[in-house]
Amino acid sequence: MRPSIVILTGAGISAESGVPTFRASDGLWCGHRVEAVATPEGFAANPVLVHDFYNQRRAQLKAVVPNAAHQALARLSAAYDGDVLLVTQNVDDLHDRSHRGVTPKRGFGLIHMHGELLRARCVETGKTCDWRGDIHIDTPSPFGTLGLRPDIVWFGEMPFQMDRIYDALSGCGLFISIGTSGNVYPAAGFVQEATRAGAHTVELNLDPSQGHSLFQERLYGPATEVVPAYIERLL
Ligand code: APR
Repeated sequence: MRPSIVILTGAGISAESGVPTFRASDGLWCGHRVEAVATPEGFAANPVLVHDFYNQRRAQLKAVVPNAAHQALARLSAAYDGDVLLVTQNVDDLHDRSHRGVTPKRGFGLIHMHGELLRARCVETGKTCDWRGDIHIDTPSPFGTLGLRPDIVWFGEMPFQMDRIYDALSGCGLFISIGTSGNVYPAAGFVQEATRAGAHTVELNLDPSQGHSLFQERLYGPATEVVPAYIERLL
């Protein structure tokens, strides 16, 4: 059995599918202040604006499909003789779709650490459910009386499944970071955790990230080129 792998992905892996990244000049925040659309305070101040922002992003998913980088990671899950944990900061469902129908060779997990556009959360109970349509301030929650919010981790909130992620990092032999600018913690600190565990660390990105010097191996170019090439070499 080969060493276990933890893969971290960010907005860059979905860029060539047509999902804009966050920090590009024409980026995903669409001219909104981050505080207005991606914080609990922003939601409390103007829930109509926040719902509208995420409704548009949810609708946008219908027009995009997984690209060659997502597909290469699905091939890895199917063929790699070791455990793979795929941790994404992305709230799109492109990893989910590219893995549909794939039987992993060994253990496989997919964690959306910043939540998912296609899930809704009950404001009152915190319970979540699949959600494909729009959410409005008067959309009833199936679980409580105070309505729904997107099941997205906003700034100031705790990302999901951190115990499971740190557990995997502490035992991994290879850590691969793909398409993330390394600006946002805790994800930006995963490379240091993997290094402490003695893992080989690799950055695949369009250009050097904030923490690029922390990686032992670095390959730069569009995700649809560098990711399939790296995965084929690995397999
Ligand atoms: N191929 C590979 N990398 C790319 C491509 C591409 N085609 N296009 C852009 N990139 C790279 C950029 O160079 C940048 O380093 O992807 C990275 C995207 O960075 P961000 O926009 O900052 O996105 P991300 O790192 O995922 O942001 C992290 O911050 O805004 C919050 O919660 C949000 O999950 C998000 C988190």
